[in-house]
Amino acid sequence: MSERQDLAGRHIVLGLSGGVACYKAAELTRELVKAGATVQVVMTEAAEAFITPVTLQALSGRPVYTSQWDARPDNNMAHINLSREADAILIAPASADFIARLVQGRADELLSLLCLARPIERVPLLVAPAMNREMWAHPATQRNVAQLRADGATVLGPAAGDQACGEVGDGRMLEPAELRDELIAFFQPKLLAGRRLLITAGPTFEAIDPVRGITNHSSGKMGFAIARAAQEAGADVTLVAGPVHLPTPRHVRRIDVQSAQQMHDAVLPLAARHEVFVATAAVADWRPAQMNAHKIKKDGKKVAPAFELTENPDILAAVAALPQAPYCVGFAAESEHLLQHAREKLLRKKVPLIVGNLGPATFGRDDNTLVLVDADGHRELPTADKLSLARALVCELAERLKTSAK
Ligand code: C5P
Repeated sequence: MSERQDLAGRHIVLGLSGGVACYKAAELTRELVKAGATVQVVMTEAAEAFITPVTLQALSGRPVYTSQWDARPDNNMAHINLSREADAILIAPASADFIARLVQGRADELLSLLCLARPIERVPLLVAPAMNREMWAHPATQRNVAQLRADGATVLGPAAGDQACGEVGDGRMLEPAELRDELIAFFQPKLLAGRRLLITAGPTFEAIDPVRGITNHSSGKMGFAIARAAQEAGADVTLVAGPVHLPTPRHVRRIDVQSAQQMHDAVLPLAARHEVFVATAAVADWRPAQMNAHKIKKDGKKVAPAFELTENPDILAAVAALPQAPYCVGFAAESEHLLQHAREKLLRKKVPLIVGNLGPATFGRDDNTLVLVDADGHRELPTADKLSLARALVCELAERLKTSAK
């Protein structure tokens, strides 16, 4: 499947002010272009001390603007043209000095001039600070950042960590991929603003002995995509994840567990505080009745060990049965008779919505096909990558929450 173009049709003015993090702006330009955006780079004089316009022109495919006296525009008004064409202006890196300039409404060089000249209701300003930790922590910078926010700008980061100066602390610019994802999230409609979602994802691992266990092929990708899509839509998201190798979506609270019992014990106390519970985890139905304290060894007589299995708690059914139950969404990963099994789960677990998918066809893959099954019937969400499907599911949930009593 080709890469999703989450920024297709978006025109981004990427402004660079002076700082070592300018080297990351080259990669950021590439990431934005790869995500489908057109990128117009504007640099301050200080930024040109760190990276040349040649690199950024090559990566963006457009001549870079560096001066308000640039005579190329017919009307000789680069600040007006650039700011009106933009769907968003992203300043990355934003130095302490440049932030101070924005707060003061300065307009004596092109980048701050075009930020001031932008139609403030239509062209959002996003700012990714990058500076030494003492500069970031200074009351003057903190005061300026608070004012910048009050003036309507969105501040992205900064992150903590190693700094070019050798010190460690707050002030690192977010990584290019993080800034790209922040921008993608910024443009998503806030359909779940203020809603609280609890999501389970991944397989569980039921230990047989200290080195072996029972698990399944669930990769967690669908659940993680739903967590990301819900967060992008403005929700407050808690993700309870079985053992998976996936990065945590930005701004999502993650709780890692191994077994079904641990997942149950993590979810149940949290459930009533959430408005929606989405159970995407492929929870093992059974676990060994006892875990052996030591590795089970071959006995030399070729007799296989026998285990007794005991049933795991059904997390989804337990949440749905709570007096203050959230709106519950179950998943059905089946290998055949999907609709029939999904409908049967709807009744057995007493939930309003089951999302069906064919397990073997989707485990570990980046795309999927879903079918939504409720008391009224069913509707297919055609094959797409998992994040696109997750966004479609988020739209569906937003509609259902409007009409649900919960
Ligand atoms: O019980 P079954 O596997 O048929 O149903 C699948 C749905 O129930 C999924 O949403 C899964 O996350 C949830 N489930 C659960 N706890 C279990 C088994 C399944 O929450 N023990």
